[in-house]
Amino acid sequence: MAPAHVVGWGSYVPERVLTNDDLAQMVDTSDEWIRTRTGISERRIAEDDETTSSMAVQAAWRALKKAGVSPSQLDLIIVATATPDHAFPATACLVQDALGASNAAAFDLSAGCTGFVYALGVAADMVEGKASRPGLVKPGKDGAALVIGAETLSRITDWSDRTTCVLFGDGAGAVVLQADDNYGGLLGTVLGADGSGGDLLILPAGGSGEPPSHRTVAERRHYLKMRGREVFRFAVRAMPDAVKDVLAQSDLCPGDIDLLVPHQANQRILEVAAKALDLAPERVYSNLDRYGNTSAASIPIALCEAADEGLIQRDDLVVCVGFGAGLTWGASAVRWSVPLPAEPPTVWRRGRYAVLQGYARLRSLMRRFVRWLFSRGMKEE
Ligand code: COA
Repeated sequence: MAPAHVVGWGSYVPERVLTNDDLAQMVDTSDEWIRTRTGISERRIAEDDETTSSMAVQAAWRALKKAGVSPSQLDLIIVATATPDHAFPATACLVQDALGASNAAAFDLSAGCTGFVYALGVAADMVEGKASRPGLVKPGKDGAALVIGAETLSRITDWSDRTTCVLFGDGAGAVVLQADDNYGGLLGTVLGADGSGGDLLILPAGGSGEPPSHRTVAERRHYLKMRGREVFRFAVRAMPDAVKDVLAQSDLCPGDIDLLVPHQANQRILEVAAKALDLAPERVYSNLDRYGNTSAASIPIALCEAADEGLIQRDDLVVCVGFGAGLTWGASAVRWSVPLPAEPPTVWRRGRYAVLQGYARLRSLMRRFVRWLFSRGMKEE
């Protein structure tokens, strides 16, 4: 069984910056309160014409370019998100169309802020396959899986609720996985859930439980609600436990970790978790001050930035760990197998991807046009 390796990565955050001082103009809060209680200084907010899928596509192109993989090589696209463009079709299908990934299966995965870790685990299994049957993703350079975490949390944030609106931001991160026999790759994953805590972090209305109505809108039930203190207590227990469990699968211990890439929720949570694992602060990646909590996007954005900043070297043990709505938690251990620093794309590669992007747009338009022609033909019959 050839393990799944991370062969490309890319992230995207919107241009618009919302600072703590900006928030202090909107609700009764202060830069001092937000920074000392959360570690957040600013976050990115999507423009009106940006969506979860559009940010996911930007991150995906960057990851594909870094990997040197073309969209037609993709067998699988998973988008982990709590803020899909629509209940259906899946955001992953919108991404598949925008990339022109004509051979890929595509689906969304909902596991709150742990979504990316869940998606990585599911994709790795599909990449690796089993001895008895091949995986969904073709082995070696012929196939690949794209795993994305993307969120537009600004659209479900109640901007009049100071207990939540200071925490969240928008963005997307993506990785490309391929199977090969080289040393390293994804060593293991642990995933967990406890639905009895579902009400601690919830978007109450808009689903079949509470369909949209005048009442749900008037009562602001289409915005996320959170019991922050209880989530905090859960997080500081769940994160170290998940890390220890995933390392134990490979006979490793926290002291072996070169870089921990945790879900970026609150700097105090990261510090408590680091202490519980006896990890020095420089081994725990944090970009929380710049982006806040971007839910399923936070781990892949952090992973991409850590790799691009040269904080991850070949053969390093990298552990991603998350927790979130569900309640859910999970961790994945990766022995980084790509030589770093990654070479900047050559002119030829940049040109190739510009052509691929143009082709993807044209392909989508052509398919819509042909479908429109057929539907007209059917009407006339
Ligand atoms: N600005 C100023 N004051 C605020 C505030 C804000 N933005 N938000 C809350 N407060 C006030 C509260 O009203 C409360 O006032 P009171 O004592 O007069 O009642 C006080 O600050 C303390 O509130 P509390 O909720 O106890 O603060 P806290 O130290 O627990 O910090 C969180 C709140 C949300 C930052 C923290 O609980 C947290 O990070 N929880 C985890 C959240 C999380 O990770 N969610 C994502 C999961 S994926």
